[in-house]
Amino acid sequence: MKTVKSAAEVRKLSRAWRQEGHRVAVVPTMGALHEGHLSLMDLARERAGRVIVTIFVNPTQFGPSEDLEKYPRDLEGDLALCAERGADLVFTPEVGAMYSGDHAAYVTVEGALTKGLCGAARPEHFRGVATIVSKLFHITEPDLAVFGRKDAQQLAVIRRMVRDLDFPVTIVPAPIVRESDGLAMSSRNANLSTAERREAPALYRALDAARELFLNGERDARRLRHEAANVLADAELLRVDYVELVDEGSFEPLETVNVPAILALAAFYERARLIDNILLDPQN
Ligand code: PAJ
Repeated sequence: MKTVKSAAEVRKLSRAWRQEGHRVAVVPTMGALHEGHLSLMDLARERAGRVIVTIFVNPTQFGPSEDLEKYPRDLEGDLALCAERGADLVFTPEVGAMYSGDHAAYVTVEGALTKGLCGAARPEHFRGVATIVSKLFHITEPDLAVFGRKDAQQLAVIRRMVRDLDFPVTIVPAPIVRESDGLAMSSRNANLSTAERREAPALYRALDAARELFLNGERDARRLRHEAANVLADAELLRVDYVELVDEGSFEPLETVNVPAILALAAFYERARLIDNILLDPQN
């Protein structure tokens, strides 16, 4: 496994691999890797001959009052995990190499995809994500890129960006990896207190309760959202940010679930904001 800081060198290696006939996959991450990230690498490995992992805590996707400084970092541990999981190359650029002091170009995806849900509390967030992912695609020139369904809105934003701006990259979604009590794995779970960690599986229980109702035939979005919100109301330490039911592709809010939909929620704890979601597919 190679660890590379230079964009030019990564591009050279990727091009050489493709010339040899390999498919190249990229798995973009911000590090502090856990089993959720590692499952993305496994999926990349199944679909491509060469796997590039990127580790970069991207400053442009953090708001001014967010956790950029205290975002967990463990490069040495991360590199060991990447090697263990068979990554061929890890790209670990410096902030100054990705953003010059006078950086002025950004990629924005407009409309419902970025206005609602996480976009409401984090207005610049998806601009930062779309910008860095564009840069990473230009640098790594992959055939495919793997993104987790954990960040469902991010996945939808990237898919739209790739479609609308003609990136020649196939986006491969990966299922959410959970702890045994249902809590979706996240680097931010490390910022929960013991009591908060004990309570946090309520997020998944809330989604699960709504899914149960859905499986019994309920299609009214308001009732499904209320079912989830009721479970969250019993959790005393968290503050609900949103519980929304949206079209999976457009992220437009739904009144009736008659197309594949995402039930998504977000909640604040003292030092962490957690998100989770499930897919509700009336066809399935
Ligand atoms: P990060 O939060 O490190 O996540 C990297 C990738 O891992 C994302 O595609 C995310 O959806 C996926 N992931 C995280 N937790 C997961 C879980 N429990 N199960 C499945 N997949 C999971 O998302 C980002 O970084 C950044 O926004 C990035 C795309 C790298 C751009 O900076």
